[in-house]
Amino acid sequence: MANDNITIHTLQSLKRIGQKICMVTAYDATFARIFDEAGADAILVGDSLGMVVQGHDSTLRVTMDQMVYHCAAVTRGAKQAHVVGDLPFMSYQLSIHDAVKNAGRLVAEGGAASVKLEGGEEFAKTIEQIVRASIPVMGHLGLTPQSVHKMGGFVVQGRDEQTAQRILSDAMTLEQAGCYALVLEGIPLALASAITKQISIPTIGIGAGPHCDGQVLVCYDLLGMNPDFKPKFVKKYASLYDGIRQAAETFFSEVRSEAFPDEAHSFKSKPIRTVVSNESPELPSEHNEKAVYGAPV
Ligand code: KIV
Repeated sequence: MANDNITIHTLQSLKRIGQKICMVTAYDATFARIFDEAGADAILVGDSLGMVVQGHDSTLRVTMDQMVYHCAAVTRGAKQAHVVGDLPFMSYQLSIHDAVKNAGRLVAEGGAASVKLEGGEEFAKTIEQIVRASIPVMGHLGLTPQSVHKMGGFVVQGRDEQTAQRILSDAMTLEQAGCYALVLEGIPLALASAITKQISIPTIGIGAGPHCDGQVLVCYDLLGMNPDFKPKFVKKYASLYDGIRQAAETFFSEVRSEAFPDEAHSFKSKPIRTVVSNESPELPSEHNEKAVYGAPV
């Protein structure tokens, strides 16, 4: 780990000095490197990969082995940003023992610097034990995608007084339990603002308005990779679907018209004559003739 790596202490100091925290998801080394070099404070290896990478309609099928694999790829690409590994569905809900063991896998095998888990007060003891094992924990409240069936869909949470009060109280409990930061997803901006003022750890919002201490978006969403996905909280900073599709269409058309590869994209060599014996038993008869091969230059 380099000395200029961004740590949980750096992220907490950003709240204190009033500088917004920038977090983005990534699932492989190439994207991680780009976001790292663009200045991300934190990169989240989110279980959202179940939807945007694997093509499922929820995050529920993502496994621990898959999260370890993607964390390891991301940590190879990110040099400075703080890498957070997401604990997937059923990796921490069954027992505290499982939770600590799986959090440890994201750090030891995946190279993550902290882990994230979804849920409130019911996971306070779990969070305490993971933190006791020296693994920093980021909490996640509000619209928690692993509870999609309980919520009845991906529905904004905390719109009535009772649930708003519960989310605020969960935020305070998670801070007490030792979380170093909280993701607030899919809640009204006034509630996110109240939580951000109430707790001393940073809040990082997604669909939670402008008053959080930082913001996170799923990288495929902010890059505009899916033209059919247009939720209110996403701003598309690029239209990569169009750019990628156009590039692919041009490639296919140049292959079909034989415009690619041209000489500039082909290897050349001095001609080298290689004689293939007529008696060669391995080759069909049409190959039993002189062939010219050259080493790539
Ligand atoms: O899995 C994920 O990408 C997340 C973010 C949406 C916060 O949890």
